[in-house]
Parts: sequence; C-alpha cells; structure tokens
Amino acid sequence: MIMKKITLSGVIIAGILLVSGLSCRAPKNDQTKDMTDRKWWKEAVVYQIYPRSFMDSDGDGIGDLKGIISKLDYIQSLGVNVVWLNPIYSSPNDDNGYDVSDYRNIMKDFGTMADFDAMLKGMHERGIKLVMDLVVNHSSDEHEWFKQSRSSRNSPYRNYYHWWNADKGKPSPRYSLFDVNHDAWMYDSTTNAYYLHYFSRKQPDLNWENPKVRQEVFDIMKFWVDKGIDGFRLDAFQFAAKDTTFPVLPQGYEKEFTKYYAMQPGLHEYLKEMNKEVLSKYDVMSVAEGAGNSFKDAHELVDADRNELNMAYAFEGVDIAKPEGYSVLHFKEVFSKWDSVFAQKGWLSIFLANHDQARLVSRFGNDDPKFREVSSKMLTTFIMTMRGTPYYYNGDELGMTNAGFTDIKDYRDKATLNEYQHQKNIGANMAEFMKQTAFSSRDNGRTPFQWNSNANAGFTIGTPWIKVNNNYKTINEAIQDKDPNSPLNYFRRIVKLRKDNPVLVYGKYTLVDKSNPDVYAYTRELDSRKFLILLNFRSEARTANSGLDLSKAKVLIDNYTEPTTDGKLKPFEAVVYQLE
Ligand code: GLC
Repeated sequence: MIMKKITLSGVIIAGILLVSGLSCRAPKNDQTKDMTDRKWWKEAVVYQIYPRSFMDSDGDGIGDLKGIISKLDYIQSLGVNVVWLNPIYSSPNDDNGYDVSDYRNIMKDFGTMADFDAMLKGMHERGIKLVMDLVVNHSSDEHEWFKQSRSSRNSPYRNYYHWWNADKGKPSPRYSLFDVNHDAWMYDSTTNAYYLHYFSRKQPDLNWENPKVRQEVFDIMKFWVDKGIDGFRLDAFQFAAKDTTFPVLPQGYEKEFTKYYAMQPGLHEYLKEMNKEVLSKYDVMSVAEGAGNSFKDAHELVDADRNELNMAYAFEGVDIAKPEGYSVLHFKEVFSKWDSVFAQKGWLSIFLANHDQARLVSRFGNDDPKFREVSSKMLTTFIMTMRGTPYYYNGDELGMTNAGFTDIKDYRDKATLNEYQHQKNIGANMAEFMKQTAFSSRDNGRTPFQWNSNANAGFTIGTPWIKVNNNYKTINEAIQDKDPNSPLNYFRRIVKLRKDNPVLVYGKYTLVDKSNPDVYAYTRELDSRKFLILLNFRSEARTANSGLDLSKAKVLIDNYTEPTTDGKLKPFEAVVYQLE
C-alpha cells in the first residue's frame, strides 16, 4: 500500500501549510474552521482531458496516451494541478470507453500500460495529479464477467449483473438513457432472461448488492492507486444501488427518472465500505457524477464526517443553458443557493461543461466571432472565482465552439445516434430534432482539440474519428499562445490568480446586486481580504450596482485591455477587483 504525502504545490511542515510561497492562516469566517480543513483537492484546478480527441500520436485518427505525453508541457503551462482523464481502459467503444471490458488494461486505441506509466510519471514530474474515471455502475457486455454471467443461470458470475428470468414474465419497465427504444431490459435468449442496462445494451448494470462485485471494484481501485494515481471520478455512481425486486414505478417516472434511480437504499453503505477499504487508506480525491435529488443527498455524499466521498457534482447549474437562452437571474440563484448550502460543511464542484455537454461558449456565452473571446473569458472568470473545486474542460481555454454538424452522418455519439433512430421510429419532426442536436449533442464538445492551422488542426496526420471544427484556422492553440490577450493566456492568468489567492478558494461568497438581470456580481472574503467579481452576461454594456466603494479598488484581472473602473461593464466584461 502506498501512503502518499499531502504535497499540494507546497509542503507540510509541522502542521503549517505553505502554498505557492504564501503563508496561509486558518480562515476565520463561517467557511472552514481550521487548518485541518485545507485540502489539496479543494485548492486544485481540475483540467479534464477527453483522450480520444486530445492528440493523436500514431496517425490512426484517434487521440492516445503518447499524444497526451507529447502535450504535458502544454498542460503544465496552463497552471492546472489535476488532470481528470476520461476512461482509458480496454473497451469495445460502444460509448467511447464508458463500456469497460477490462479494468486493468489500456484500450488498444490509446496505447499500452507502459505508455500509461510514462504519462503518469510525466504528470507527477510536473506537479500534476491524475484522477481516473471509474465506470462501475456498469461494465461492457464484452467484459469477462458478463460473458460468464450470460452463459448460464448457474454461473458463479450470474449475480454480478441484474437478471430477470423470462419464466416470470416481463419485468416492470425501466427507462434506458441510450437505448434505441429507451427500454432498459434486454432479452437474452441464451438463458431466457432479461438483463438491466440503464445506458446502452452494451453497458449492462453491475449488481452492487453482490458483495463480490464490490470487492472486485475495490481491488481494481487499489490496483490503480498502487500504480500511483491520485483519485477517482465515479461515473454515474448515484445509480449503482438498486431495489432488486424491481417494483412497478408510477406512470411518467421516466420524465424524472433520477428521482427513482438515484440514491437507492444501500448506496451510502457501499460508499462507506469503499471509503474504508480504499479511499481512506490513501491520499486520493474522489468525486461522484451526480449529487442525488436534494441538498440532503448531496451533503450525505460529501460531508467529511460521513466518510464517503470528497465531492459530487450536481447538474442543476450545467442544465440551465437552453437553445432559447437562459435567465441570468436563475443562473445566479442556482449557484448562490448551492454555495449557501455548502458554506459550513461539505465541498462543491464548479463546472459548466464537460464531455457530456456541448461547448461552454456556445451554450452559456456567445460564439459569434464578435463576442466569442470575451464571453468565453467571462465564463472562465466565473468558474475560477467561485467557491468549490473548478473542473475545466479541454478546449474551453481556447474558446472552442460547437461543431456545427448538420448531417447525422457527422455524429459519432451512440446516445445521439440512437436517439435519432428513436425519434425517426416514432415519427418525430426530424428537422426540429437536428436543430436541438446541433445545440446540445455531446459530440459538440468532442471534436478534436485545435492545436494549430495545419491539416486536421494538428490533431492527427490521419483521418480524425470525428470531424475537426471548420473554424480551426482561426481558433487554435498556436495562434493563441502568441497572443497575450487570447482566451488561452487569460486562462493561464486566472488560474494563477486563483492559486495565488486562497480567498478565491475558501473565501466566503456573497451575492451583491441580486436583482440585476444581466450582471452577476459577488464578493469573496477571507480574513482581511475582499474581492469583488463583476460579470456582464450580456452582449451590450451594462452597469453593476454593487453598492461598494470602488474608488480604491485594484483591478486584478479584466477580460478587456482597458478595464472598467466604475462598474460600467462592456459587453461580456468580467473583472475581479481587490477591495481590501
Ligand atoms: C456518464 C458519463 C457519460 C457516459 C455515461 C455512461 O454520464 O459521463 O459520458 O456515457 O456515464 O457511462
């Protein structure tokens, strides 16, 4: 077993934590109570890499681990200190790696275990920690466990999954997110039984009620932590526990299936067991996808005295963006509410985009060339100045935009393709469906990373597995690296600002100018420091009425070269002031 030292970007000496040369005193206000509440994972900036689309080293058109290795200096140059990597385990790729066929091996498309070891070493040498995706609500149907499980009703692996013998008739309906008929029960003639799959047919749900399954997962986790990784993102984990009697659910349950699927009895016991067996023995971070149905659920997942996880991320914030736009008042209300509920206890994750969402700037900002850069920087400012651990998706630092696909043939995501088929089958208005899909498909966020103006944006010398966005000649890393005012260099500056100022991590959050429908304004306070953040969410000039005296305020960062001095904000202007 490896017990790691807490290292952060500083060192712990006799209980005194030194971060980036700053001596940090214990926060006094309502937030964290004492030194012991300070954690590296709270102070981290997490950069998410979608390996399939990041960098291809061998010309097969698919990003890979050697590609990531070749870009480690770039990742370090961002100033981020944690990378979350989407699944890289062996997989037939029905859902781009979220269907794992061997949890202890690397997907062929991505490379070898030797590549993995080299990548991890390279990250650690650069002070970057690695968080792996742990996909254990389900496996692939090509995993050995499932092959055994489906082979016979008497297989020792039968109870690794959820089976319903057809002798009993059809089980009560369950909604599947990715299935072409949205039917989560798949009939398998080998043993005349149905198996459960909340996602695609090739993603059968594991039976967490079986202690052997839990032990297998804990062993897998230990395998990776012993290799030296620094944490796990628990994929779809809120759905892992199930009522295995499969009672009939009320009509229309599928419209709010989380209410019926998430946080079922047993889930917290499984997490406590995981914590006891694995997490508590190492200095690793843990974050769950999904935070249940209530603040109570969210607290029960992450409060330190629960001994379960460090963080969970809820979808309420990320779900606000809609094709027709969204209310800034609503946005403010949601994020303020979550902050206040976690102000005393627990810890938040802050994110507006990931591999399951369309692009940040296209959904929450304005990707018109006139506003793309400023609005993208404004959103970055929001993510980097809120309390909680920021999760930032690769490519957003360039302000990469939605793919602009109009033909279904350009899409690759199984969920999108199956939904297209489903909509066709039920005679839906396909033009409308394509319009919605162009705004929201996950493939929008999965087009290759735009490195330079060369063919395929420098991502591959082969044919990319998904089309490169047409705008790569104007939006790419090489151009932005040279431009001090680019979104990329703005991102580097604001990451540094966050890392240098614990007030942005731990400081008390207070919403100001609450009723302003266009500007999001808030303060962050810690000890004697007070920052004010003003964000104009509109493509027209707006004024913030913070009620605070700005005459002596110092501008720490602004997304315009001529910063505002009086609270009058240019379109999508973002400014961080130091008041005290
Ligand atoms: C999570 C992942 C998503 C995946 C699904 C099934 O939501 O983020 O990409 O398709 O789980 O594993």
